[in-house]
Amino acid sequence: MPRAVKLAPSILNADFSNLYREIKAVEKYSDLIHLDIMDGHYVPNITFGPIVVKAIRKITDLPLECHLMIYNLPEWVEEFVEAGADRISFHLGACRDCEGLIRTIRAIGASPGIAISPVVPVFEADCYLPIVDFVVVMCVYPGFGGQELIPEVLERVSAIKRKAASLGTRVEVEVDGGVKTENLRQVVSEGTDTVVVGSSIFSSSDVEAAAKKIREMLNDAASCSPEV
Ligand code: DX5
Ligand code: ZN
Repeated sequence: MPRAVKLAPSILNADFSNLYREIKAVEKYSDLIHLDIMDGHYVPNITFGPIVVKAIRKITDLPLECHLMIYNLPEWVEEFVEAGADRISFHLGACRDCEGLIRTIRAIGASPGIAISPVVPVFEADCYLPIVDFVVVMCVYPGFGGQELIPEVLERVSAIKRKAASLGTRVEVEVDGGVKTENLRQVVSEGTDTVVVGSSIFSSSDVEAAAKKIREMLNDAASCSPEV
């Protein structure tokens, strides 16, 4: 069986004046929707909070992933889960008690993940691999869509997979930032399970066609790549 690579469109570069249309355009090609939550402190940008997540929850039945780029995480995770988040990732370095937060996210009914910024050494994730469901390998500096993927970071995907295997566990690895048709094969060939694609879909003049193209490329790439 070919390995199915999941597509998670990030709405950061979508037309926020018509999120319904934007999400419906990508829905049938997607496995989940990636929501970038920024507080203007952890990253130099502000996006949206639980109120908007709750509104998006009404638009689609796809799982919603909140990628939290915020501080004060223990105060906020429950609000995001109540708003409809199915998966929550947060950044190592934004939190004092990462293990406690991972356990809280799971206890309140969501799937926990950790995100690693390019400036954070990848080994800092090691001790959490047995207790998270997924790891977000960021290939851009968190804060903005539309940046170029940093190619040197990509080898983190296979490194995390190997480390998890050596610890007797498996973890889903998601690549976030700078993914586009030109580098998709390279991203998938690292063993990536989920790709986040933002501007390459939502800054396109035909959002649906862009999502369809990425979905087809993922299916093609998966059929020629080994089971990881
Ligand atoms: C950056 C975000 C990413 C980003 C993806 O902080 O976490 O999800 O918006 O968008 P593109 O694909 O445009 O890099
Ligand atoms: Zn993101």
